[in-house]
Amino acid sequence: MKLISSHDKHGLMILIGIFVILIAGLFGLEAKVRHDLKNPFEYHLHVQEDLAEKPEDPESMGDGSISSLDEFSYVVDISKHWQNDPDTPLMTYGAQYDNSIYNGSDYDIVNWSVVIEVPERNITIDSSWNGTWEYDKQASRIMFTPDERIETIRSQESATYGAIMISRELMEFSDVSFSGCKYRPITRYLLFWLIIILLVAWVTSAIAFFRYLIREENHRRYTERLNNVISQTMSTFANFIDTKDRYTKGHSARVSYYSQKIAEKLGMNEEQVRDIGYIGLMHDCGKLAIPGTILNKPGKLSDDEFEVMRNHTTEGDRVLKDFTAIDGIRDGALYHHERYDGGGYMKGLKGEEIPLVARIICVADALDAMNSDRCYRDHLSRDVILKELEQNKGTQFDPQIAQIMIDMIENGEVFVGDGPSED
Ligand SMILES: [Fe+2]
Repeated sequence: MKLISSHDKHGLMILIGIFVILIAGLFGLEAKVRHDLKNPFEYHLHVQEDLAEKPEDPESMGDGSISSLDEFSYVVDISKHWQNDPDTPLMTYGAQYDNSIYNGSDYDIVNWSVVIEVPERNITIDSSWNGTWEYDKQASRIMFTPDERIETIRSQESATYGAIMISRELMEFSDVSFSGCKYRPITRYLLFWLIIILLVAWVTSAIAFFRYLIREENHRRYTERLNNVISQTMSTFANFIDTKDRYTKGHSARVSYYSQKIAEKLGMNEEQVRDIGYIGLMHDCGKLAIPGTILNKPGKLSDDEFEVMRNHTTEGDRVLKDFTAIDGIRDGALYHHERYDGGGYMKGLKGEEIPLVARIICVADALDAMNSDRCYRDHLSRDVILKELEQNKGTQFDPQIAQIMIDMIENGEVFVGDGPSED
């Protein structure tokens, strides 16, 4: 964006900063989900003694064992059992072991398995459901791996599975290891939805901000164009004035320039300085009403001619009567030949009765007159100009403004005499 203001840059940086924080939060959350998935936990679930007791009637239902640690509950229930070949020394038991794991945590459990320590004995897995049972005789353990139906134990839900096993004795599942990975979809985190809400708010704010920037840019371009139109119209009009007075070519533009320099030194703001420039351009517009024979007369004017010439101030005031957009533009034209000591024309105002813009233009006008060649003399030297300004402080010129001009000439900000600013 062209010429984006520092204020707008600040807003843009804040928007970018918030976006980075939100996206970082989202990635951080995603990383936590992945971390949970890659870091399996293992719980040792010990069957509670009182619940592990078998009922008197071996055929009865509900023979259950429950263990829980933290958020998980484990239940194994020998729902039925029977004796095989009771009259032989190789008598075995057949039993149906119904298992259930309840997930009371806020996570889903995935990639899980159960390892059950069993006494050393011959065990045959007759049949199973919802997963695979593997008996490792060497290690005296049975490992259960779920199939796809229960591979995920959702939060607050149970997974059930079981097997029918043949063994020498009925087994108690007394030492159970439950391992798996915690998984909570990112959408189940409150933080996720908080970030999403903030991102929506961010997008809304960003759209509003960029629309504001576009509006500002359009406004800036419009204002710039308008200022150019005004400035060029003023300059064109000033050229008309200076064209009529061939001895003072470029005079209005130079008075405008010097006036702006003085205004800057007086601490005026950018808008005031710009307006002073326009006032400087228009200060002699009344000359359009003065006959060219008088304006361009070589040599000194007669008293009558000078009387006509003086009228360029009042004529300027008249020409500019409808120009109300710039404060002081009429004052500049009407009072720029007033003297600080009250000896000027047309009103004979004195000191600070003379509007500030007119006092500024008075010094700028006199400086350009001294610094320009006339048909009857060359421009004055730098020393003479400085001397004139000094001597006329408080008489012709406002002393403060004259001193500002003296300072600018002395420190090289304004070139006069044979300086490089000469036309
Ligand atoms: Fe003038």
